[in-house]
Amino acid sequence: MVLDKLSRPLRDLRISVTDRCNFRCRYCMPREEFGSDHTFLSKSEILTYEEINRFVIACKPLGLQKVRITGGEPLLRKDIHKLVEMISGLGIETALTTNGSLLSGQLNKLAGSGLDRVTISLDAMDQETHSRITDSTFSVSDILGGIMEASSLGLDPVKVNCVVRRGVNESEVPKLVRKFRGTGVIVRFIEFMDVGRTNGWTPGQVVPSSEILDFLSKDFDLVPLIRDSPSDVASRWAHSDGSGEIGFISSVSNPFCGDCVRARLSSEGKLYTCLFSTLGHEMSDLIQKEADSDKLTRAITKVWEQRKDRYSEERKPETITLPRVEMSYIGG
Ligand code: GTP
Ligand code: 5AD
Ligand code: SF4
Ligand code: SF4
Repeated sequence: MVLDKLSRPLRDLRISVTDRCNFRCRYCMPREEFGSDHTFLSKSEILTYEEINRFVIACKPLGLQKVRITGGEPLLRKDIHKLVEMISGLGIETALTTNGSLLSGQLNKLAGSGLDRVTISLDAMDQETHSRITDSTFSVSDILGGIMEASSLGLDPVKVNCVVRRGVNESEVPKLVRKFRGTGVIVRFIEFMDVGRTNGWTPGQVVPSSEILDFLSKDFDLVPLIRDSPSDVASRWAHSDGSGEIGFISSVSNPFCGDCVRARLSSEGKLYTCLFSTLGHEMSDLIQKEADSDKLTRAITKVWEQRKDRYSEERKPETITLPRVEMSYIGG
């Protein structure tokens, strides 16, 4: 096991397998910023599945328990189920975050490859609002179909992530709660964060979880549940009649850096110790040279032992303008 400067272990690895996406959510990848002149990583720059797997193997002796595959949109990468198969074969819990647009076509292969869980980003039930937010024309009903199919294939608990922004989609919140009540799907409301530098974040756009809970409490009788583990990002609430659970991810109003056990690997092999990092640690050389796994494990240990990130707890007006990686590049 390895501990950072604040005594936090490395338990959870988020792997971005591509920086590309078929949506253009304005808060993540706005067309104006990621337009035709934006250079995405080229195919030759990004790690192969074998290389990613090598990195995961090197993290295992450090106490790694969970891997989440993210993007951009991870289902754009060819045969992603092959990576799932490699990682789940190591006996590590394997989850995937997707925008849901390509899910139903790939679900059987993913489930058959040992994927444990899937999380789908869905900010609106209303088609027009969804199209506006994602700057795309993908059908909400297709995404909903994929969500229910994932649930029936046992990729549960299936979670739905909704980033709430004031004046954009607050009215979608009760609709989402109603839709998934009684289905076993857990919908979670995320406070809009100042990740990256292109999303035009202002504090006024954040709807604090406490405010959402207040207005939901008018329609639903919600009771608090205990977090599964202190490092979980969401606070949990249940319908008092047992018809389901919802969650809140309050990284702005109630940061959770104290228990942050998450490392992030970018698609071209840089290790980031915080979602708000300015720079990543170059690992691709060590990964690609087929160096023995111990060498890579030692390099990861060295980075982790120096880690003292707690951005969300330190957020203040001066920190908001610091350079940092984009969410589309590093994944949620
Ligand atoms: P499981 O526990 O595996 O279900 O996943 P999770 O609860 O960690 O959630 P997920 O990976 O779906 O993350 C949900 C959202 O929480 C992300 O999209 C981010 O918005 C936010 N988030 C996750 N991890 C962090 C983190 O380390 N720091 C901050 N500030 N936000 C995070
Ligand atoms: N604030 C909070 N969550 C975000 N996500 C993307 N950008 C932001 C942001 N600025 C979330 C999406 C998705 C995951 C990949 O990251 O909702 O669930
Ligand atoms: Fe794509 Fe997700 Fe970013 Fe939207 S939030 S552009 S779906 S990576
Ligand atoms: Fe972890 Fe950084 Fe998020 Fe804090 S802001 S919870 S340290 S990733």
